[in-house]
Amino acid sequence: MNIYLLFKSIHLIAVISWMAGLLYLPRIFVYHSEAVQNNKSEDLMSTFKIMEKRLFIYIMNPAMIVSWIFGVLLIYAIGVDNFGSFWLQLKLVFVIILTIYHFFLLQCLRKFAENSNSYSPKFYRIINEIPTVVLIATVFIIIFKPL
Ligand code: HEM
Repeated sequence: MNIYLLFKSIHLIAVISWMAGLLYLPRIFVYHSEAVQNNKSEDLMSTFKIMEKRLFIYIMNPAMIVSWIFGVLLIYAIGVDNFGSFWLQLKLVFVIILTIYHFFLLQCLRKFAENSNSYSPKFYRIINEIPTVVLIATVFIIIFKPL
């Protein structure tokens, strides 16, 4: 059994699940904030709140934790001297941005839960592009490994 390939497979499964949540949660926020603006029913608001909470707790949080655990194990598997490589430093910058974005979404989720969201649907549409750009950059960096 090749431990490195096992770690990498688990890492990729977790990363895909994490990214799915990072891309989908702000989309739900777009619809949720539009529904608030248009004074839609309380039932619809509760449905959004449940969708947001379940996505965050059952998919995004575990997926982020497993991505980090197996990402760090992969650093040990390929050798910690890789910290000196530009590609790994750049990748870590991007995954830290994704992690900050993850916790920012948690703050937004809490605001929605308290009915005190202060951002517009347009704001959520715009920030939805952040994980897309970071995802593309991260994949190119890790595959091409510049320097
Ligand atoms: C959460 C923190 C993360 C850490 C510490 C980390 C670290 C690593 C390491 C050390 C490798 C092995 C590189 C190699 O085999 O040479 C790897 C592989 C990979 N990671 Fe991550 N990673 C993280 C998150 C992510 C994210 C968020 C993405 C995508 C957006 C991603 C995409 C990939 C891909 C596609 C590979 C396979 C590369 C290959 O086969 O050469 N990782 N990761």
